[in-house]
Amino acid sequence: MTNAAPSGSDAHLAPGAGDFAARAQQVAKRYGRGDAEVVALDGVTVGIPRGRFTAVMGPSGSGKSTLMHCMAGLDSIDSGQVFIGDTQVTGLKDKQLTRLRRDKIGFIFQAFNLVPTLTALENITLPMDIAGRRPDREWLDQVIDTVGLRPRLKHRPSELSGGQQQRVACARALASRPEIIFADEPTGNLDSRSGAEVLGFLADSVARMGQTIVMVTHDPTAAAYADQVLFLTDGQIVDTMAGPTAERVLERMKGFELPGVAAR
Ligand SMILES: Nc1ncnc2c1ncn2[C@@H]1O[C@H](COP(=O)(O)OP(=O)(O)OP(=O)(O)O)[C@@H](O)[C@H]1O
Ligand SMILES: [Mg+2]
Repeated sequence: MTNAAPSGSDAHLAPGAGDFAARAQQVAKRYGRGDAEVVALDGVTVGIPRGRFTAVMGPSGSGKSTLMHCMAGLDSIDSGQVFIGDTQVTGLKDKQLTRLRRDKIGFIFQAFNLVPTLTALENITLPMDIAGRRPDREWLDQVIDTVGLRPRLKHRPSELSGGQQQRVACARALASRPEIIFADEPTGNLDSRSGAEVLGFLADSVARMGQTIVMVTHDPTAAAYADQVLFLTDGQIVDTMAGPTAERVLERMKGFELPGVAAR
């Protein structure tokens, strides 16, 4: 592996160079007020390397989804800075933010966020239709076949299984080849075979097309498809692992799952 992030405690720190598709700098995010206040992100600084597959792992409630939402400009932050490429997301006006998300970012979230009145195919091409961009037919065909959706293209989301809906969401994110794809447990609803197919496809789009993907997962086997893993605990990056294997990730995760270990 070339370019692998060095292991070590500050391997995740963003030096500010241009080789990151997205960066968070000292990002803090709280929910609620007073007694109900939750610190979801506690001054996170992290860079997502361009053209690589990055997995984010950590205990439930550690801030993984919040980090994805904040980096993708879907949620506001209390302090710090977020960049997509060279563009500072924090401080963008609504219109600019919408355009940035539309043109540069793909999403695959825990909830599929499909439009119920559109067919699978219409859902896949919707972001490009909105942007007035013509899909690359050959790439679109490849995406559709890889996620195995060809026979279901004319069906609406309510007529698809959860796994099929998630595959539509994956195809939608990949179809326009965005600068970065944020994926939050993209294979959480899939059986292991469909999951492996989707993960293989995501990894392939990174290796062959230079796609940048950052993916939250609870599954060490899924994380092993990535080039590197970031470990999040209590709203902070606490470790990184380059060239992960399922065994090493599982071993590392054990430390987090033990009661008391995640406590500050
Ligand atoms: N809208 C919200 N209002 C209040 N608290 C929230 C909200 N969203 C998230 N939180 C809290 O912020 C913390 C981080 O949540 P987040 O969803 O980022 O965790 P996560 O790591 O994605 O967990 P999981 O693995 O369970 O999906 C949690 O304590 C959660 O309860
Ligand atoms: Mg989550």
